[in-house]
Amino acid sequence: MIPYNRKPHGNADVKGTAVADFTSQHINADSKTVESFGEEWNRFGTFTEAEIQRAGEQYFDIVTENMLNKNSVCLDIGCGSGRWSKFISQRAGFVEAIDPSEAVIPAVKLTQSCGNVRVTRAGYGCIPFDKESFDFVFSLGVVHHLPDTQGAITEAASMVKKNGWLLLYIYYSLDNRSGLYKFIFHCSNFVRLVISSMPQGLKNFFCDFIAVTVYLPFVALTRFVRLFSEAGSKKVPLSYYADKPWKVIRNDSLDRFGTPLEKRFSKKEITEMLDNAGMKDICFSDNEPYWHVVARK
Ligand SMILES: C[S@@+](CC[C@H](N)C(=O)[O-])C[C@H]1O[C@@H](n2cnc3c(N)ncnc32)[C@H](O)[C@@H]1O
Repeated sequence: MIPYNRKPHGNADVKGTAVADFTSQHINADSKTVESFGEEWNRFGTFTEAEIQRAGEQYFDIVTENMLNKNSVCLDIGCGSGRWSKFISQRAGFVEAIDPSEAVIPAVKLTQSCGNVRVTRAGYGCIPFDKESFDFVFSLGVVHHLPDTQGAITEAASMVKKNGWLLLYIYYSLDNRSGLYKFIFHCSNFVRLVISSMPQGLKNFFCDFIAVTVYLPFVALTRFVRLFSEAGSKKVPLSYYADKPWKVIRNDSLDRFGTPLEKRFSKKEITEMLDNAGMKDICFSDNEPYWHVVARK
C-alpha cells in the first residue's frame, strides 16, 4: 500500500469499507462522462472469474513477468469495476485502484476478497500519491474519454518509477482499417452523439436496441465468414465480439454509444504522446483491442 500524500476531503462507506474520496472540481475529467460511467459500472460491474480471466489475457498479452510480478506495486487509473485490478492481483504485490466515479462501489465489491487491492475515489488531476511511486501503472480505456489526453498520459507516466512500466489501452483511429470500415464508424459516431445526450433510461434502452440490431447481426456475419476464411472474418466490423458473452456486448454498446466524450488516436499519435511523456521501449500489441501498448520509463 502506498501512503496518501494528502488528506481525503471525504469518505464513502461501501459495504463497511471506507473509500477515501479525493475528487475535486479541478480534475482532468468530463463530468457527464464520469457520471455516465458510474451508472454503467453499477449496472454491468459484476464479472465471473472466467470472464475476467478471458478478457484480461487480451489486454495484458504484452505484459511480461519482468514488467509485472509479485514485487510490483501497481496503480490502476480509471479502474471502473475493478476487473483488471482483480485480474492482476495474484501476479502483483499490491494494487492501488482509483476512479472518480461511483464505480468505486462495484470496484470495492469485486476486489475486496483479493486482500492486496485498495480502491480510492480519485482520478487524473487529483491522484493522491507521490510521483514515481509505482513499478507498474495501467490505465485501460480511460485517457480517450478525457479533455486533455496528453496531460493524462504525462501524469500516468509521472507516477511510474524509473525503469517501471506503463500499460495503456487507447481507442484507435481505425488507422489499420478500410475506407468502408471508417465510413461505418463515422455514421455510428453521429448516433453516439445523439444517444449519449439522452437521459439514462432512454440511453440504456437505445444501447440495448443497438446491441440486438447491430452487434448481433455482425457477430452472426463474422461467424458465417469464419466458416470459409479466418482472416476474412477478422475484417468484418465488430468481429471482436464474435465470441464475447452477451453481457459484454450490451456493456460495450453502452460504453460505445452512451459515453459523451470519446476521442481516437493512431499508433503514431500515441507514440508521440508517450515520447512527450518521457517513455521509451514503446511496444504495441498486434492483437485487439486496438491499441494497447506498453512503455518503459
Ligand atoms: C471505459 S471505463 C474503463 C474502466 C476500466 N479501466 C476497465 O477497462 O474496465 C473508463 C473509466 O474511466 C473513468 N474516468 C473518467 N474520467 C476519469 C479521470 N479523470 N481520471 C480517472 N478515471 C476517469 C470512468 O469513471 C470509467 O470508470
